[in-house]
Amino acid sequence: MRRALVNIAREIYGDESEYIIKSFDIIGDIAIIKIPEKILDERRYRFGEEILKNLGYIKVVLRQTTPVEGIYRLRKFEYLAGERRTETVYKEYGARFYVDISKVYFTPRLSYERIRVANLVGEGEKVLNMFAGAGPFTIHIARKGGYVYSIDINPYAIEYHYINNIINKVDDKVILFRDDASRVVEEYLVAKADRVIMPLPELALDYLKYALKALREEGVLHIYLHIQYQENDDEALEKGEYIIWDKLSQYNVDILDINSRVVREVSTRMAQVCIDVTLHKNINYI
Ligand SMILES: C[S@@+](CC[C@H](N)C(=O)[O-])C[C@H]1O[C@@H](n2cnc3c(N)ncnc32)[C@H](O)[C@@H]1O
Repeated sequence: MRRALVNIAREIYGDESEYIIKSFDIIGDIAIIKIPEKILDERRYRFGEEILKNLGYIKVVLRQTTPVEGIYRLRKFEYLAGERRTETVYKEYGARFYVDISKVYFTPRLSYERIRVANLVGEGEKVLNMFAGAGPFTIHIARKGGYVYSIDINPYAIEYHYINNIINKVDDKVILFRDDASRVVEEYLVAKADRVIMPLPELALDYLKYALKALREEGVLHIYLHIQYQENDDEALEKGEYIIWDKLSQYNVDILDINSRVVREVSTRMAQVCIDVTLHKNINYI
């Protein structure tokens, strides 16, 4: 699939194709391409048509026109070819996710990470997902036997999440909240979770105190951060672990275990990392 897209890009853009071939996303039957300003011209519509012609399962081609932005973490698109829609169904490790990618954040680039975390969850475990989107982490976890409190501030995210719970037959294992995660934790979820997932790097450090509040006496946090590095991504892991270790030292908790992994490169010398921390909350931990 990637090879076919690269070939089409080469045919239409020649040497300039190197600017676009790094950044394709396929979500369900929608192909999303990025084209830098310096080669943004009429050729993009032909590119769209050729993608449709050569990749039978692609029904819509969009160009991403903005980075992911705003509280809801959305990106904007220009329509290039195919059916005029932004809704699709995306399949991942046996689960199906119905999303409108113009209304709800969604990326296929976290697929391994989502199943990795789901595989760590024990039968009957209570998990809090503070930034759930349309539900991919939550639904994989529920399919593995966990119970999930799933929060998102974007009403469309909760609408699609609700539908996805039903499609994937986990609606009896998931409780949804449409609000700011800090408010939901304070009101309903103090000391309720064995594990907390924080898949929003922009808020992870500010919301760490709410993740700690939601955790029972002992449990696991999965904290996602964006870390700039100079030489290699081992440096990003070291930095990320240090930041979390330092931040947690403000609270009366014992770190029992800390591990980290690079999830993906988000831009030049900037890695998304996940820090997994097992900890014990002492009395008066805050
Ligand atoms: C990067 S997306 C993660 C989506 C999802 N975990 C996934 O893998 O597709 C972050 C989500 O956090 C939501 N969000 C942003 N601020 C929030 C807040 N204060 N409380 C709860 N959700 C929030 C956004 O609406 C967005 O859907």
